[in-house]
Amino acid sequence: MPVTVLIGAQWGDEGKGKIIDVLSENADLVARFQGGNNAGHTVIVEGKKYVLHLIPSGVHSEKTTCMIGNGVVVNPVQLLEELDGLLDQGIDITRRFQISNRAQLVFSYHCEFDALSEKKRGDKLIGTTKKGIGPAYSDKVNRCGLRAGDILRPEKFESKFRENIARYNKLFAEAGVEVLDVEEEWQKAKAAGERLKPFISDTVVTINKAIQEDKDVLLEGAQGVWLDIDYGTFPYVTSSNTGTGGACTGAGVAPIHIKKVIGVTKAYTTRVGEGPFPTELDCEFGEQLRQMGGEFGATTGRPRRCGWFDAVATNYAMMLNGVTDIAITKMDVLDTLTEIKICTGYEVNGEVTSIMPVEAEDLYVAKPVFETMPGWQSPTTEARSMEELPEAARKYLARVAELCGAKISIVSVGPGREATFQV
Ligand code: GDP
Ligand code: IMO
Ligand code: MG
Repeated sequence: MPVTVLIGAQWGDEGKGKIIDVLSENADLVARFQGGNNAGHTVIVEGKKYVLHLIPSGVHSEKTTCMIGNGVVVNPVQLLEELDGLLDQGIDITRRFQISNRAQLVFSYHCEFDALSEKKRGDKLIGTTKKGIGPAYSDKVNRCGLRAGDILRPEKFESKFRENIARYNKLFAEAGVEVLDVEEEWQKAKAAGERLKPFISDTVVTINKAIQEDKDVLLEGAQGVWLDIDYGTFPYVTSSNTGTGGACTGAGVAPIHIKKVIGVTKAYTTRVGEGPFPTELDCEFGEQLRQMGGEFGATTGRPRRCGWFDAVATNYAMMLNGVTDIAITKMDVLDTLTEIKICTGYEVNGEVTSIMPVEAEDLYVAKPVFETMPGWQSPTTEARSMEELPEAARKYLARVAELCGAKISIVSVGPGREATFQV
């Protein structure tokens, strides 16, 4: 069975967790391939809310192996908190959970350094989640980071940990901030490592065996295309490749196996953190949309910035990632509006373009060109097929698909698993 990749096609928080939960009913294996616990993926089952940060959103399907791929940066202490939190909620994945021995590890010193770097940036801050993601990926690229596999070699684990924390403590001392207590941090790392040992393996072998055996394999992206380190609104991005390419390198799956790429998008747009956002509604209506959509971060609780659907950005995202299928979420949030806007172009320095500009400076000054469509002004939450949607909602979806250059295959009309239909 071909592998399916699911990615966020906007600035994150598109509803990836919810769609993965729906699709994992049939999945044998779900793997995260990048990012870390900067992600917050919400799954709502029978009215109960679960927020996943590092663990794939396939936790509710008992036959599904949940895998953390090599491209993920893993905070061992946070991961255990998440595993324990799931156990408290009655979900035990310990017999179907695996972590790549190649995954890089995140420790408190990365988080502290993340916070310090943000402080130093002053008003040019990125608005990171302060989960140590950038510093951990920096250590990977600098070839000095610890990997999950090091946990299995206690002496190496301890010496590398001590080397790294000493290096960071030197930086903290130089910056005049409090240094970390090495013994205390090492004991925390060691204890977490001890508990995680049974889950660490060469996941490349497992995932490729599953593919050869024709199993249903789903690769779960975190963040979104416009937060991608190469293609996003640099420097206001995260530190990993959030798209289809990242899925291959971050899960150890060759591109030839990928036949389906699902791009998840909201029926409007949100962004959390700093950086350009051309269709942002920096007005009372933006605040209204935030309330209507419950747009507050699942990881940091920060209010999300809200705006209209941006077909310029989303079309580029779909092209870049070979998206074959669109999953559109939060249609129900627009139910009461009399009219709905879609951005079809940007005016940048007097010229109109339908191609996403690359430079943040251009995106900051880009004036969106909008097309206005009538709203449907009736509830959609109960709809379970295209036919059950009001005509104006169907027209809106058709226009989104046309502008984005891909077919809509999944429509989400509420936060719960049941409020979804496939087309
Ligand atoms: P993710 O990071 O892409 O997994 O998305 P988040 O979980 O951070 O944010 C999506 C939010 O929207 C969560 O609170 C979901 O419960 C909620 N959600 C997802 N789909 C829908 C939908 O169709 N309608 C509504 N009203 N909420 C949704
Ligand atoms: P999910 O998977 C939305 C944003 C941060 C900041 C930038 C860099 O839930 O969609 P980082 O901590 O990664 O160095 O922060 O990226 N960001 C997200 N925004 N959803 C996410 O994840 C995000 N993960 C990081 O707000 O702007
Ligand atoms: Mg999220």
